[in-house]
Amino acid sequence: MGRTRGTGGRRAGGDRGVRRRRAEDPPRSSVRIAAVGDFHCGEGDAGKYRDRFARANGEADVLVLAGDLTNLGTPGEMRVAVEELRDVEIPIVAVLGNHDHETGHVEEVSDILCEAGVHLLNGDGWTLDDQVGFVGIKGFVGGFGRYALTAFGEAGLKELVGNAVEDVKKLEGSLSHMETPVRIAVLHYAPIAATVMGEPEQIWAFLGTDRLAEPLDRYEVAACFHGHAHIGAFEGRTPGGCPVFNVSLPVLSKHGIRDMYYLHEVPIPAPTELAASSASPESA
Ligand SMILES: [Fe+2]
Ligand SMILES: [Fe+2]
Repeated sequence: MGRTRGTGGRRAGGDRGVRRRRAEDPPRSSVRIAAVGDFHCGEGDAGKYRDRFARANGEADVLVLAGDLTNLGTPGEMRVAVEELRDVEIPIVAVLGNHDHETGHVEEVSDILCEAGVHLLNGDGWTLDDQVGFVGIKGFVGGFGRYALTAFGEAGLKELVGNAVEDVKKLEGSLSHMETPVRIAVLHYAPIAATVMGEPEQIWAFLGTDRLAEPLDRYEVAACFHGHAHIGAFEGRTPGGCPVFNVSLPVLSKHGIRDMYYLHEVPIPAPTELAASSASPESA
């Protein structure tokens, strides 16, 4: 499960999740997801996003952050980012982006997020009321289709491709253990070429890899959110039909979304629908 630690008395995080279902409540029929990435908080950004994030409380059940929460990944920047999230009362699920790795403080910035109550995913998952499973990983580079990098030649190239494949395996492993009726994936790098279109074609290989798409299809993921491709396209689909949304903040703005996040609702099948769909013809 995702890393989440005690709140250390901070208001942020400690109050998060108060809107979770009670045992006596009926099951959710849908989940509303507010998703954004690439807001790149700098130390001078205090207060810039706080009110905009807080609006998610009334509109969504979960806030998803698709990486690049900071500009350079310094602890000071991440402290600013969690202050921007201070008024968010719904659960927050996040992955880190490449910018959050830049200055080599991954452990420290991860701790800051976790201590603020954020469910930080790195090849693992978190579930909302046993109905919706979120799996998340940053992902990595590699490219798409016949032009994807392959593990051939120099050791450095093999290592790079190996790192990308390792993230795919982690994503696949996490999905294989997620038994909720609905599965949602959170990435930073793009899993399909369709959502990097608009970026210079020369850098597509650095914006993601479609190796990440195969587990999304195999485990019938209901929606995938990613960031990183700031001038890519807003939406696309995997070969198997999984809807993929590039929720990078600049892309949302370009797409006419004026809120801080894209709001996406996913229906949750009722237990009777699930039983019917899993029954084989022989047993019907
Ligand atoms: Fe970014
Ligand atoms: Fe990025």
